[in-house]
Amino acid sequence: MSNRQRVLSGVQPTGDLHLGNYLGAIRNWVEGQNQYDNFFCVVDLHAITVPYNPATLAADTYKVAALYLACGIDLNYSSIFIQSHVSAHSELTWLLNCITPLNWLQDMVQYKEKAIKQGENVSVGLLDYPVLMSSDILLYQADKVPVGEDQKQHIELTRDIVNSFNHKFAKPNQPVLKLPEPLIRKEGARVMSLTDGTKKMSKSDPSDLSRINLLDSPDEIAKKIKRCKTDPVRGLEFDNPERPESNNLLNLYMLLSGKTKQEVAVECQDMGWGTFKPLLTETTINALKPIQEKYKAVTEEKGYLESVLREGKQKAEAIANQTLLQVKAAMGYSAPL
Ligand code: TYM
Repeated sequence: MSNRQRVLSGVQPTGDLHLGNYLGAIRNWVEGQNQYDNFFCVVDLHAITVPYNPATLAADTYKVAALYLACGIDLNYSSIFIQSHVSAHSELTWLLNCITPLNWLQDMVQYKEKAIKQGENVSVGLLDYPVLMSSDILLYQADKVPVGEDQKQHIELTRDIVNSFNHKFAKPNQPVLKLPEPLIRKEGARVMSLTDGTKKMSKSDPSDLSRINLLDSPDEIAKKIKRCKTDPVRGLEFDNPERPESNNLLNLYMLLSGKTKQEVAVECQDMGWGTFKPLLTETTINALKPIQEKYKAVTEEKGYLESVLREGKQKAEAIANQTLLQVKAAMGYSAPL
């Protein structure tokens, strides 16, 4: 067993992955992966907490797994698996449900936002979603959880659950569950919508013009950037609260070009939108091209993805089942016969 710290994270297979998912999460998984022992899952149990299409769920799940590889997840350091293939996730969720106060879940910002959008059809699953996420993290005794800013509250809840569990069921100084820490990089932690610089870029935004998906063609990227919201001011600047679009688009340019903030600020300070937009378009197309080529290669090799996921499942299951047994024993359950 390696003595590296463990990382766990995941993305939901609802809709296409976009630049927010990439810059806020997956890019950071890739960059840090050689320092850690990593588990990356496709969280298909989370995907059914909102209305979804059963006819495309399996294909969407595989697509996300292929994108992990395409973005640079390296199997020498990381395992990739599908959440629903490891049944311990569901089982630990039930056990943790019974020690999680209802009002903790009702206070979650993302739950409140999504519940408002769904009106009358809010499922118990949507409310319980953060407990499932806690189970994902805790089954692997993860030290670090690399995510975008919007998931921070869920990791704080996970920490509350750990403290509550260990307090109730563990012997002093012998915690059963490990306290995880969020890993949130300032740059890219909150990528905003192309059609409204005050709103997060999101898979659930009804307008596809609001986001750039990782598999968008060069024409689609050009169209979206051409139509994206700007302001009437000449010269682009970071960090002006009056100009959220300018800040967001400059951040995208900075992250996708690999230039520093200072370099970008100087380069774009006198630029008009008419000059900047083609520059951002070209930079985005070039940054996504290697990902798209690798995606094509991964999906064209028959049986490859399945073999990656089978191996990932085995590695994940070995650890998850062990934690589950420890949790059940601590809670007073008899050992399985
Ligand atoms: P999900 O699928 O909504 O998003 C996946 C990851 O992308 C990040 N992200 C963003 N980052 C920056 N700007 C944005 N506009 C943006 N939109 C999304 C998210 O912060 C996330 O890191 N509950 C999680 C999935 C999950 C999970 C887990 C994560 C389930 N179990 C265990 C970590 C550990 C979610 O719905 O992410």
